[in-house]
Amino acid sequence: MTSVQCVNPRVRRIRDSPQTVLQNLAEHITKEISLQKPFKEVIDVSAGDTHRAVLKPVSFLRQVLAVCVYPALLEDKSLPLDVKIRAQKLLEACDGGSVGSYTASSGLSHVRQSIAEFITKRDGIPSFAENIFICAGSQRAIMIAVKLLASGEGTTRTGVLIPAPCPHTLYPLLDEADVVLVPYQLMEEKGWAVELDKLHQALQATRRNCEPRAIYISNPGNPTGHVQDRKSIEEVIQFAAAERLILLVDEVYQDSVYGKDREFISYKKVLFEMDKEYAETVELVSFHSLSSACMGECGMRAGYMEVVNMDPEVMYYFDNTLCGDISTPVTGQLALDLMVIPPQPGDPSYDMYIQETLFTLATLSHNAKRVQEFLNKLPGVSCQPAMGGIYLFPRLHLPCGIKEQAKLLGLKDDVLYCQKLLEEEGVLAGAGQYGGITDSCHLRLCILVPSDTLDEVLARLSSFHCRLLGGTVTPRDA
Ligand SMILES: Cc1ncc(COP(=O)(O)O)c(C=O)c1O
Repeated sequence: MTSVQCVNPRVRRIRDSPQTVLQNLAEHITKEISLQKPFKEVIDVSAGDTHRAVLKPVSFLRQVLAVCVYPALLEDKSLPLDVKIRAQKLLEACDGGSVGSYTASSGLSHVRQSIAEFITKRDGIPSFAENIFICAGSQRAIMIAVKLLASGEGTTRTGVLIPAPCPHTLYPLLDEADVVLVPYQLMEEKGWAVELDKLHQALQATRRNCEPRAIYISNPGNPTGHVQDRKSIEEVIQFAAAERLILLVDEVYQDSVYGKDREFISYKKVLFEMDKEYAETVELVSFHSLSSACMGECGMRAGYMEVVNMDPEVMYYFDNTLCGDISTPVTGQLALDLMVIPPQPGDPSYDMYIQETLFTLATLSHNAKRVQEFLNKLPGVSCQPAMGGIYLFPRLHLPCGIKEQAKLLGLKDDVLYCQKLLEEEGVLAGAGQYGGITDSCHLRLCILVPSDTLDEVLARLSSFHCRLLGGTVTPRDA
């Protein structure tokens, strides 16, 4: 048996997914550059990895962590006083005063308490540490929540409603949890809004195939950049209540809303401000992460979920499942604490912290507008404005000839487009099935990149696109 035959079908699906294939091709092209490519480097705008895009980490967070990892730095005269005080406090919260010790499986109680205080302040609604579960990233948290729901076989298998388009990581994650994916189409022409009719349609279409038990929402949306308003959130909550669905709400980009007249409102806040029949009954799990736009500490692997209106047995299940992980990486947990309780006005690190996080927000807001305007001027491209998050999701209206080439090569239109863009111009854009129900063709572009990188990406993209539409594209050997 060859190693390929040995691979588990799920692993194979991830390995063969368009995004993975494109990433492998990007690596291959990077190795080839010095030999034969007209560009000096491959630029990856397919996924959100702020630090890989060379945006600077938040200094306060890194300074405090540096001291926590190497407490001798408490004596360092160059570090601000609030950094040392905070590091000392965090070390006291760790067993043995060291980041090297295990923590409770649901996370350090000090950090869970900080998160509860952050949520209480954000929403004006009380939050409790015992409802907070810290995990190695929000994806892990989503997996735990979905696995809890997964049961049945055939028509009784658990179904989870997911947006189309959805984050590209969601497919393999839910597939691994062995649930039926039930896509609901987002309304592109309305800026990718969630529409009630589409939720009902999705549910109707799947009723005889599975038992829908949950609905997943990404707000602010990945890859759409849409941010729901209060009315839209209320509608989804009412829908979930009527259909007895658990709400799984991914709010990782809550720190990056820049749309005009738009603000981030959490599902928890809206739910608890609704009538008792909702506020006291609708089961909600909301997720947040250190991989958020302003922190961008994706590699530290830390996130959390807040669970409300759940049976105590379910809370026990969460705790118990996390026991399997033994302990979430401690530096990540401490970084979460710093994310939710940053320096306050008057603290020595406050000004720099504000400068750095405002810079990220300004970069996002500026790039979102610039890229959207740029794309809408390209022939055969239309792009909805983003209100938050770190992506734009432009639509490509490709000529028939290109679609036929893709068909001949057994590729989706967007995958062929991205493959050619990568090979000819060294730009890696996101392609693949983001859960689209229609066969429209879109690209996912991460806009959280420095402005000179963006200049380069737009120049290469435009040159490739115009050449492609001018008919000079040559199909890659299959
Ligand atoms: C919608 C969404 N949720 C969550 C995450 C972060 O996941 P994690 O916390 O596991 O890094 C991302 C990407 O960074 C995302 O786009």
